Amino acid sequence: MTIFEEATSKYLEQRIPVQHIIGYSYFYGYQMKVNSQVLIPRPETEELVSYVLQTYDQVFQDAAVDVVDIGTGSGAIAIALAKEEPHFSVVATDISHEALVVAKENARRNEAKVSFLEGDMMEPLISQQLRFDILVSNPPYIPEDEYVEDMVKKNEPNVALFGGVDGMHFYEIILSQAHHILKEKNIILFEHSHSKKKKMIALANRYFPNGKVEVIQDLNGKDRFTIIVNEKI
Ligand SMILES: C[S@@+](CC[C@H](N)C(=O)[O-])C[C@H]1O[C@@H](n2cnc3c(N)ncnc32)[C@H](O)[C@@H]1O
Repeated sequence: MTIFEEATSKYLEQRIPVQHIIGYSYFYGYQMKVNSQVLIPRPETEELVSYVLQTYDQVFQDAAVDVVDIGTGSGAIAIALAKEEPHFSVVATDISHEALVVAKENARRNEAKVSFLEGDMMEPLISQQLRFDILVSNPPYIPEDEYVEDMVKKNEPNVALFGGVDGMHFYEIILSQAHHILKEKNIILFEHSHSKKKKMIALANRYFPNGKVEVIQDLNGKDRFTIIVNEKI
C-alpha cells in the first residue's frame, strides 16, 4: 500500500480526520501540531482572533496589554495573538496536561512567547493573582445530549467538546469569576454555540451590567461571538 492509499483508507474507512493523518492544521496562517489530545482549531475561531485584534485597536489603541486565553487546547488562539500583536503579553490555560504539551510545542515551533498555566478554569489565574486587560475563550460548548458526528466524538477529546447540560457551564464559571482576574477597563470575547445568543446576553448583563455587549455572526451568518467591553467594572 502506498502512503497515499494508507492515508485515504484512514480517512474513508477509519474516519480519522485529515489533520490527524498529516499531524497538523493551519490556524491564522500558523502551522499547529494536532493530535487526539486537542481540539482541531476551527475556522470560526480564526474569526474570533480577528475580533480580539479589532476590538483591542478600538479600545486600547496601541497600549501594551495583558491577554489570557482560557482553555487553550492546541494553543491556537494564544499563539496567533502573540504573533500578530507585539503589544500583547499572553497567558494561556488548560485543565488538560496533555493539551498543554501540544500547545507548548506549537508555541516553540512558531516562536511565539506565551506563558502556559495548567488548572481548572480561573483557578490558576486567581491563585497567582494575575490581572488581564483582555480575556478570550472558546470553551467546550456542546450540550451534553447534542448529537456529535462520530469523526469528532471518536477523535477529539471529550473534555474539549461538552459544556454541561445546556452548553453554558463554562461561560457561567468564567463570567461569574472574571472580576477577580480583570483590570478595570477590559474586554471579554467568547466563541459560543449559534443557538445561545439570548443566554449569552443575559449572562453578560448579569455579571457586567455596565458593559457594552455585542453578539456577532460568523461568516456563515450564525450568532457565534459575544464581545463585552467594560470601560469600568
Ligand atoms: C473547545 S476547546 C478549544 C481549544 C482552543 N482554544 C481552540 O479554540 O481551538 C476547549 C478547551 O478547554 C479545555 N477545558 C475543558 N475544561 C476545562 C477546565 N475546567 N478548565 C480549563 N480548561 C478546560 C479543554 O481541554 C480544551 O482544550
